[in-house]
Amino acid sequence: MKIAVLPGDGIGPEIVAQAVKVLKALSSDGLKVEMEEAPIGGAGYDAAGDPLPEATLKLAREADAVLLGAVGGPRYDTLDRPLRPERGLLRIRKELNLFANLRPALMYAELASASTLKPEVVSGLDIMIVRELTGDIYFGQPRGIETRGGERVGFNTMVYSESEVRRVAEVAFGIAMKRNRKLCSVEKANVLECSELWKEVVIEVSKKYPEVELSHMYVDNAAMQLVRNPKQFDVIVTGNIFGDILSDEASMLTGSIGMLPSASLDQNNKGMYEPIHGSAPDIAGKDVANPLATILSVSMMLRYTFNQEAAAKRIESAVEKVLAQGCRTADIYTEGTRKVSCSGMGDAVVAAL
Ligand code: IPM
Ligand code: MG
Repeated sequence: MKIAVLPGDGIGPEIVAQAVKVLKALSSDGLKVEMEEAPIGGAGYDAAGDPLPEATLKLAREADAVLLGAVGGPRYDTLDRPLRPERGLLRIRKELNLFANLRPALMYAELASASTLKPEVVSGLDIMIVRELTGDIYFGQPRGIETRGGERVGFNTMVYSESEVRRVAEVAFGIAMKRNRKLCSVEKANVLECSELWKEVVIEVSKKYPEVELSHMYVDNAAMQLVRNPKQFDVIVTGNIFGDILSDEASMLTGSIGMLPSASLDQNNKGMYEPIHGSAPDIAGKDVANPLATILSVSMMLRYTFNQEAAAKRIESAVEKVLAQGCRTADIYTEGTRKVSCSGMGDAVVAAL
């Protein structure tokens, strides 16, 4: 298993170091893991003047899977847009054709009290958000800021082709088939043509999956329903920007954004695995970040790219075990539990393995 390791910026290096520990522990237990590190984001800009250096992209292309930390930081916010860390992340997603972004929101029983929602609303929560990742307003042309009629105008383009919708819908239906066979397609078809086409294509694809119960929801309503009654959802499929927003919202249902992993897959299940949270510059370098989202991303990697279900489950059980033992990083700490550092959490997971 060849893995490109891209720690990135902010807390990226700290959290990735914990996930690497976990991979090494599995490796000493017989999994054949080969890892190589390269800079991305602000680190890429510092090293090579490019948020996605050529050598990093090459390494990522040659690897079977990519493990990514996070990118971005205030130091880079004033750079020209193409040089900003976020652009490196978007480019690697696009270059590797990682169009299907799987973002599970899973409630760990021990963390029910860490959620800002009532325990009865969130306990047992298990949602999978399938976010389209290489299209939409993130990449649509034209885009820019220009002067029109004496004032500045900013513009972006929301655009989806039917093939883009179809392939991500196929992935979502496939996942729904393996779960509770309920799929909710989220869009804004009452206002946007782009969404109207999205909905039509999803309905076409649904004909191949008669066992899956398909529903449709406008994104504003979906945002409300996620906090009102999140357990009504099984799988959600949505476009890039709506998925970005709803997955942050869904993460908080589970207690902390520091818990949620993600997988970004291409047609052949090659994938990039990253926590859904950002680089958290305010706590970077302090050894207080929660590494569990990154560690759980490794579990997704073993499941989706390497078909190592047993090893994936082992990581998940180890995470459950350390939570049951009361280990908590600051973001999920509640009274009566034991506060641990980022590296302390990594060590605890390795011990639990
Ligand atoms: C995410 C992040 C990224 C996105 C940013 C950092 C570009 O918010 O992965 O959800 O918007 O996709
Ligand atoms: Mg986001």
